[in-house]
Amino acid sequence: MEGSLERRRDDLTIVAQVNVNLMKINLAGLTNPAQISIQLVSLTPNADSPGSTEPSKSAEVTLVNPPPANGTASQAAEFDNQFPVVVPSFSLEFTQLADDFQVGAIIVRNNNKEHFYLDSVKLKRTKNIHDDSDSDDWDWVFECDSQVHPTVDPENDFRVFFHHRAVFAHETLKKLIDHELHRLRGDLRREVKTLEDDATQFVDDLIYEFDVYNDLGFDFILGGSPFPYPRRLKERTIVEPSVSTTGHGNTVLQTFIHTLLDKVTELYFDGTQVEDPKTTFGSILEIAGMDNRFETTIKCLEAHKVLDVFLDVFHQSIFSKNPFIVFLEKFINVFKGLLQAIDLPKPRSVLTLTPGVGGTWYDVLMNDDEFGRQALAGMNPAVITRLKTFPPSDTGKKITDLQHAVEQYLKSKQFTLEQAIEENKLYIIDYHDAFKAHVGEINQISGRKTYAGRAVFFYKKPPGKLIPIAIELSLPKDSGDQHCTLHRVFTPPVVTPQEVQPISKDKGGSSDPADEPLLDFSWELAKIHFISLDFSFHELVSHWLYSHAVMEPIIIATKRTLLSSVHPIGKLLEPTFRNTFDINRNARQILINKIGIIPNDFTAGEYSMKISSGAYKTWRFDMQALPKNLVERILDFVYHLNGTDAC
Ligand SMILES: [Fe+2]
Repeated sequence: MEGSLERRRDDLTIVAQVNVNLMKINLAGLTNPAQISIQLVSLTPNADSPGSTEPSKSAEVTLVNPPPANGTASQAAEFDNQFPVVVPSFSLEFTQLADDFQVGAIIVRNNNKEHFYLDSVKLKRTKNIHDDSDSDDWDWVFECDSQVHPTVDPENDFRVFFHHRAVFAHETLKKLIDHELHRLRGDLRREVKTLEDDATQFVDDLIYEFDVYNDLGFDFILGGSPFPYPRRLKERTIVEPSVSTTGHGNTVLQTFIHTLLDKVTELYFDGTQVEDPKTTFGSILEIAGMDNRFETTIKCLEAHKVLDVFLDVFHQSIFSKNPFIVFLEKFINVFKGLLQAIDLPKPRSVLTLTPGVGGTWYDVLMNDDEFGRQALAGMNPAVITRLKTFPPSDTGKKITDLQHAVEQYLKSKQFTLEQAIEENKLYIIDYHDAFKAHVGEINQISGRKTYAGRAVFFYKKPPGKLIPIAIELSLPKDSGDQHCTLHRVFTPPVVTPQEVQPISKDKGGSSDPADEPLLDFSWELAKIHFISLDFSFHELVSHWLYSHAVMEPIIIATKRTLLSSVHPIGKLLEPTFRNTFDINRNARQILINKIGIIPNDFTAGEYSMKISSGAYKTWRFDMQALPKNLVERILDFVYHLNGTDAC
């Protein structure tokens, strides 16, 4: 038995190529590669210690000489020919390894006083020390893409990168996995003075901690009582590029430009594959050094028009005096100058997709069929619910004007209210409760007018239409009232807008305005107010809260408990987390804060986020997805063909 465990030493050499991104290394030039070491950790227990679950480890090999006794290293910096992006490679050799050594992880120690950016480590087995390590035929590739902070405590200050292969709490690597989890939770955080400016910084700022929304500039905090909200990632935390598209030192500007280029490329260049979706901008130089995507983007931009639109937006924006926007404007102007010098090919047409409606704006905006169609096929289909009881909540009295209006309509269709409910004919989009507490306050804002509202639809089959039959708009008795008890109900005109639409003179119609039938503008205005609520709810709740904000604590919790680079569940979830931290951080800085676009441009103004918080009070994770969401809303008839068989 003992003999079978014996392994021959000195047989195996593993060569490594270590790539360090100098663009992301600190620019003070204080990082000495000789102070950076790599150590290989085996996936299997050390055969020299029978019964032990400890892995065997190679010697620590520094990136440059002097080499240790059982390994060598040399620098072979590679410079990109075209652009000043420097990606030096260090070649290392790990010798005297057991011939069945399988690399499960690497340990990286940085004995410099400053952090450095480790791009990747590639390894391959060889029996020939002078094997051609330029070959791409690697046995193990570690896409580290991370900052490695300096060692203060040699016992704890090291980074571990696991091979991208899923293992369930592998016994051999368990200690290292635990070490990484402690680090990610902030347990190993220590403060040191930086050499650059003698400021205090944390040794390890890749930490996932929860925080409340206390950075929006409001006089209230989102998170906890009285405004519950999902937690967010604590700032100062640097997000792993593997879960976001940005690395250390990125700013909103860089992310914004990244997004802008992504979108423009997407719009202008049909079918082009973006070279590397993880590529990020660490600096303007990096932008200049971008690969095909940047060139492609430049070539395919008829960019003056696009950029003019952006500039217009900025000029009109409330941010026009913001230094960030001023800088961005300058950047765009320089960019435009560059583009003028380039012979640009014609781009494909932009935004050829049209909504599934025909006709003129008049047909789209004032057609009740289209209003009904968009209740399901529009931007916010996640609210409509089968009407199960009548009257809906908070109506204040048993028989309401809304109920009366609905009954009148049903009477014309030979239905009683009970029959219509029983036969699943009635549907409702109800924004009353979501907005009622803030309607009075919103209407105090100059130029704003809103109501708490709900709309009732009749399902007509055939031909399978949702027909709006009544809209209730409600106001509080006074501006401080949290309830909207003054209800007004609007119903469609007996003659539909299509029937009253004037026929133009060139089609034989009269040119005399007196001959044009009048529209019921009360109904049209009621629809517009309702659509305004629909838009606000969609952005503040269905989109931002239910899609973006609620995901953030889930990602933080996953990072703190499942090491995503190792655990199969973590690996499975990882792609769904991509970009969320970045987008949410940008939203906090540009969209939802006190001077952001939403509080300034949305009808609900500064009360927008309180409305969003109000919706979170009743949010349930388990009711968000198919099939429960549809079962709860009893919409199985609509979605069951492509939604779920369970409905
Ligand atoms: Fe979104």
